[in-house]
Amino acid sequence: MNRPPPKRRDAKSAPRQASPAPRAASANRPQKSAPPGDSAPRKPTGKPTGKPTGALFGRGTRKPLATPSEPPRRLFATPSTKPSEAPETKRLGPPPSRATGKAAGKPIAKAAGKPPSKTPAKPPAKSFSKSFSAHVPKPEAASTRRGIAGPKKLYPLKPVDPSRPVAPLVRGEWLFTTREGYEQDLLEELSIARKLDGARVISPGLVAAPAGYHDATFARQAMPIRAIVKTTHATELDRQVTQTLRELLVRDAPDKPWALHVWVADSEESNRFARIADMLDRSVTAQAASVDLAWANRRVPNARAARDALGWLAQVCVLSATEAVVSAQPAIDAHSLHPGGRARMRVDSAAPSRAAMKLEEALDWFGEGPSRGDRCVDLGAAPGGWTHVLLGRGAQVLAIDPGQMAPSLANHRGLEHILGSAFDVEPDQPVDWLFCDMVWRPLEVAALLAKWARRGWASMLIANIKLPMKHKAPFIERIVTILQDGGWTRVRARQLYHDREEITVCGHRK
Ligand SMILES: C[S@@+](CC[C@H](N)C(=O)[O-])C[C@H]1O[C@@H](n2cnc3c(N)ncnc32)[C@H](O)[C@@H]1O
Repeated sequence: MNRPPPKRRDAKSAPRQASPAPRAASANRPQKSAPPGDSAPRKPTGKPTGKPTGALFGRGTRKPLATPSEPPRRLFATPSTKPSEAPETKRLGPPPSRATGKAAGKPIAKAAGKPPSKTPAKPPAKSFSKSFSAHVPKPEAASTRRGIAGPKKLYPLKPVDPSRPVAPLVRGEWLFTTREGYEQDLLEELSIARKLDGARVISPGLVAAPAGYHDATFARQAMPIRAIVKTTHATELDRQVTQTLRELLVRDAPDKPWALHVWVADSEESNRFARIADMLDRSVTAQAASVDLAWANRRVPNARAARDALGWLAQVCVLSATEAVVSAQPAIDAHSLHPGGRARMRVDSAAPSRAAMKLEEALDWFGEGPSRGDRCVDLGAAPGGWTHVLLGRGAQVLAIDPGQMAPSLANHRGLEHILGSAFDVEPDQPVDWLFCDMVWRPLEVAALLAKWARRGWASMLIANIKLPMKHKAPFIERIVTILQDGGWTRVRARQLYHDREEITVCGHRK
């Protein structure tokens, strides 16, 4: 894309310099858009809001910013910085001015630089190199890179030959379901983590392995195969499944409350059996009472209720009209508390983007979320789906994005928007939560998140990380390592139901 040459600014009149990331700024990189269906990164309009902010997090007067960056490009290019450290901004010359409005409460954040320029950034000219924040990328030798360097050597997975017959499911194995199209990524993950010989794709969205793997990123649901029910007639399936469930639960979890999930894999092929799964669920419910009333009465409405009562989760994965896989395990061990891992979230119609559902699901998975008065920073916030969710919980939000927030959020109490790059902002004091849904190079995003932990700027992290096209599993390992090196603990990664070409990561500090 041809771009106009950058405007030169002289040292005195230009106190800040476009920062490294949207320092992207810098080159003629090909553009990459957000995953489809998501709130795609909107082209920043370049129009300053000119409005004073709520000034929850900042001091001084917010400057209207003249040239916010374009949405980032070249998401998965090799980063020019060390992955373990976010690009630092050298403070040289006069301190940068605030991008936020005047403070109404305790100020906690300041913008350390100008939002990325729409024009490509030039390498700093000698004459004014001392007058702005500058980033000097350190070239990194390919041999020093961790993780996916040379993935072919490390993880020589052969593509599954669709013409080869798949080994049938065996009792004692584990059944995983994944997003359709991610079966190979799950296989790769299982083979890296567990060296599971014999892991194989059963059908679109379904993978079997000789053993389980706790918290696999690409598994939506995972369950031990306790029985495989095959019937000659479809009419027999519900009776045999009910009988099998009763035997398993009465033997292994006597007197325990239990919940039942009947599901199909989320694929075109398996979704044809979704109606059968619904009918099976209803007839098991109806038959349970006649088979064993005491057992039937211990059933609780859902997996969450079973988990809270230290009960069990029974699962039935319907493979066809005459075949189903039956599982039962303590609900606390369940990979997901949603049937087949499909955590369908609803958000109110006022949410500025569907991305709000991603955050709702992430909070559900994380197990906790911000409460009233918590201070949250939302990196890559526009148009404001995540911010909307956080404000709805009564949190204070500092939204950072070179793009505009939805008009519905304008002047919202508790919200401050810095129209600029996340790479240019640092808080004046620690916040409770760091949220991030930036469409930007994932390794650089991970390094930025690591920097937030290293500096003690946030206590809890939920971030959405965009995935590369290939070798996603080793790539995720690399992302997790960067976050852990930064100081995030209990780091987990999961491709949630509402995630597309992306994953959600979470972590705590200490
Ligand atoms: C998927 S959208 C975010 C959607 C948002 N979470 C929501 O709920 O509506 C990705 C956003 O990342 C922003 N972004 C990209 N690079 C950024 C950077 N360096 N700093 C801040 N935001 C950035 C884009 O402008 C875009 O608005």
